[in-house]
Amino acid sequence: MKNKIAYKLISYIFLISLIITSVSIYFQINTIYNNQLHELDKDLQTIKENQLPVLSQALWNIDNSTVNILLESLLNDKRITATKIVEEDGKTTEFGRYKAQNSTTKSFTITKKIKDKNQVLGKLYITIDLSPLHKELKGYAITTILTEFIKISFIAFLIIFVVKKLLTNNLEKMANYAEKLTLDNLDKPLEIKQESKNSHNELDIVCDSVNTMRINLLDQLQNSRQRDQILAHQSKMAAMGEMIGNIAHQWRQPLSAISTISSSVKFQREMGLLGDSDIDKSMDSITKSAQYLSSTIDDFRDFFKPTKEKIYFNIEDTFDKALSITSHQYYNNSITLFKNIEAIQTYGFENELIQVIINILNNAKDALVSKKQKENLVFIDVNVEDKNIIIKIKDNAGGIPKDTLSKVFEPYFTTKGQSQGTGIGLYICEEVIKKHMDGLIYVQNSTYDYNETTYTGAEFTISLPLKESDSV
Ligand SMILES: Nc1ncnc2c1ncn2[C@@H]1O[C@H](COP(=O)(O)OP(=O)(O)O)[C@@H](O)[C@H]1O
Ligand SMILES: [Mg+2]
Repeated sequence: MKNKIAYKLISYIFLISLIITSVSIYFQINTIYNNQLHELDKDLQTIKENQLPVLSQALWNIDNSTVNILLESLLNDKRITATKIVEEDGKTTEFGRYKAQNSTTKSFTITKKIKDKNQVLGKLYITIDLSPLHKELKGYAITTILTEFIKISFIAFLIIFVVKKLLTNNLEKMANYAEKLTLDNLDKPLEIKQESKNSHNELDIVCDSVNTMRINLLDQLQNSRQRDQILAHQSKMAAMGEMIGNIAHQWRQPLSAISTISSSVKFQREMGLLGDSDIDKSMDSITKSAQYLSSTIDDFRDFFKPTKEKIYFNIEDTFDKALSITSHQYYNNSITLFKNIEAIQTYGFENELIQVIINILNNAKDALVSKKQKENLVFIDVNVEDKNIIIKIKDNAGGIPKDTLSKVFEPYFTTKGQSQGTGIGLYICEEVIKKHMDGLIYVQNSTYDYNETTYTGAEFTISLPLKESDSV
């Protein structure tokens, strides 16, 4: 199907010139034919004028030999193939051969003037053969069509050549270029070779605009890559920030316990009240707190492991890990957590899912703390529906205003002020759930009853395909 345009062009040229040639040949032949017939008529007229009076006289005199000579002599004209006289009494004299095809017969009435009256003596029939004329015209038509055909073919091939050289080859080159164009070779320009460098025709214009488009794309790609890099960096920082916030909370209590114990040991020793059992007890307490600090570090270190490996994990354990990190803040802010989590086995990035859960739980905590209400509730529901793990986390902090509901997953969207919020938490959540786990995440405001009281709050829903491996 290559060179489709050229072939189409040629078919059109052939078709149109065929019509034009046919029409013009038809008219030409028609004119020639009519002229020839006219000529013939003139000749017959001459015969009529010259021969009819002689024939009339011979018939009147019943001079058969003159009639015969006359009829025979008419055949000298090559065009005339047969002559015939039919007299009034039915007597017929004929010469030559009568041919039904491609011939025409003219008749003339032979009269004699007797006493001012024209008396009919008989009829002269002259048959004229038209086949030489037809043959001549046929030959003419064939030669004209042939020369026309050769002319058109020549022009057509010239057109193909020009179209192919100027247009098709370059178009193919462009199509090839477009087909192979990817984000990786955007820096390679489209080049087409033209006859003269000064010319700036339509092809150059298309070529230029393709290159302009390419450069614009390249620019935008670089910008967006830069933006992505910045965002990725900020995401990491934000995730760290959330984590460090959680660590700080978790450490505050054991650290203050250690410092209280150590200062009280010092005080007791100064007062001389320090017994051996006191030292043992204090040291045990300090050891316990230090162990707790150390285990917290282990939790976070696991979480920040750079190896992003897909593993088999149980959703229940995942939530335990996430909650172990947030539990302190929930406890300190008197938030009651209700868990209804099925033990579901699945496959994927567990650490990333933990990060998502912590983000959502931290947001719920922030919303609840800012509300300053008596009862702070967070509900977690996890179950399986149609081979999807459905995670729902809702609070009773009043929900998200309608006009901001659609923006919470956008990067940098925060209502907490620059010093408090980064606006990146939910953005990371969406990235992880959609891009790394092939899932969905969305939020809506939910109004529900609990303990005969009606509450409203934001409800985040995560849907993850239940996986046994990468292929399922
Ligand atoms: N549970 C919630 N209740 C009310 N608003 C919420 C809740 N979770 C998130 N939001 C809104 O979504 C915004 C974006 O959250 P996020 O991306 O985590 O950024 P940040 O926490 O830094 O503000 C928050 O500023 C808040 O306005
Ligand atoms: Mg947040």
